[in-house]
Amino acid sequence: MKVTVTQNYDEMSKAAYKIVQEVLKCQNPILGLATGSTPLGLYALISEACKKGDLSLKHVKSVNLDEYIGLPKGHKESYRYFMDTNLFDKTDIDKSSTYVPNGNAEDMQAECDRYNSLLNRMRQSVQILGIGGNGHIGFNEPGTPFSSVTHLVDLQERTRQDNARFFNSIDEVPRQAITMGISNIMNAERIVILASGKSKAEAVRAAAIGEVSEQCPASVLQKHPDAVLIVDEAAAELL
Ligand code: F6R
Repeated sequence: MKVTVTQNYDEMSKAAYKIVQEVLKCQNPILGLATGSTPLGLYALISEACKKGDLSLKHVKSVNLDEYIGLPKGHKESYRYFMDTNLFDKTDIDKSSTYVPNGNAEDMQAECDRYNSLLNRMRQSVQILGIGGNGHIGFNEPGTPFSSVTHLVDLQERTRQDNARFFNSIDEVPRQAITMGISNIMNAERIVILASGKSKAEAVRAAAIGEVSEQCPASVLQKHPDAVLIVDEAAAELL
């Protein structure tokens, strides 16, 4: 895995944007997207470029990593809402070409199977990732088999606490999510993993130079032929 250290968050976002720009030049680009605080700068750059007419997402399809289970449609913390408001609605992407797992499906196993076959037909040209403080990617928590495909997860307490900042209280944070599995992520042609800030330093160390182990899901990226970790100086502190 290649590692790029940037001075700060803005530079991290710009470095990721350059890669996205390059990927969008390919014939039928499929963007694998993440939610959370980390890719917001990248999404702002993409939105800005679309607004200026420097970039178009008309020909682009997207697949998202994950979604909470049970948040009502249109809930401000659902990942579909996050993607619509932070990226899709600010670009010219055809919304019917944007895919996020359905966290309200009646039959969750059927939804996992549906999303998984979608991913088998739509290989990500690039997968954008953030990293959890515990090394998770998507909602693949420590201990998730590297062979996993789209599945339902019980969120770990640390993850719920990390995400509580977006809700009124921890009790409102969903206890389950649906996520691409690790093998779906590894299937991407290219992977860009982003991290910013001191709170990610230990996870970044374990992912980049620690033992490749299911105890740190992000460490699997060391085995990907075209993965780049772009981190700011604070997140790179332990490298
Ligand atoms: C989001 C996702 C998560 C986040 C991770 C980091 O779709 O799958 O793995 O990337 O929890 O979140 P932030 O960026 O908020 O620190």
